[in-house]
Amino acid sequence: MAADIRTARLTLRPPRGEGPALVALLNDWELIKNTAALPFPFTVADADEWLAQDPDQMACDRVLSRKAIEVTESATLIGAIDLFERNGEACIAYWIGRPFWGNGYATEAARAFIAHVFATKAIDNLRAGLFVENAASVRVLEKLGFQVRGEFDIDAPERGGNRRVRRYDLARHA
Ligand SMILES: CC(C)(COP(=O)(O)OP(=O)(O)OC[C@H]1O[C@@H](n2cnc3c(N)ncnc32)[C@H](O)[C@@H]1OP(=O)(O)O)[C@@H](O)C(=O)NCCC(=O)NCCS
Repeated sequence: MAADIRTARLTLRPPRGEGPALVALLNDWELIKNTAALPFPFTVADADEWLAQDPDQMACDRVLSRKAIEVTESATLIGAIDLFERNGEACIAYWIGRPFWGNGYATEAARAFIAHVFATKAIDNLRAGLFVENAASVRVLEKLGFQVRGEFDIDAPERGGNRRVRRYDLARHA
């Protein structure tokens, strides 16, 4: 089993049977509206599916690594981060539950996760994408050193229709 990743305040570890805690964090439109793929409302059944997701069964994206993020001191689940493959490119995506926003947790978790990815996998470039109005995530990617690579529009009926996506890259030695 892959080792947990530890930062000053956080532990990144495999998700485990924590459906109710996931629902409490993810059944929140303010969070979901900025993600690409999570359903809303987010139910216990969705949490079970998220926890059981078999990378080989996923239709579009292949999840290469999924870590739950918890505050080490209190063992509180606060979010998650994924490494996944889309169209042959390695990508990251993350979320933090709203009660925990604004504490630097996403940046702290992603920085350690990315260092671990580059240290353990033959990946030279990481991609990330966001909806352009997601100012908090823009800032997280800036703090991590990601560079803007372009923008495009997508039709996202479950996210309110036409949405503009900005794509970012981070090279291994950036
Ligand atoms: C994006 C998200 C992960 C950020 O989590 P977080 O733990 O609050 O992030 P951090 O505290 O590490 O950093 C947030 C930064 O954005 C800034 N920020 C927050 N809201 C902002 C806003 N409306 N406008 C501008 N900056 C904003 C914060 O001030 C902070 O920057 P700073 O350190 O320079 O002050 C969280 O809001 C979230 O899960 N959102 C919904 C899901 C999502 O968007 N996932 C990412 C998809 S790409």
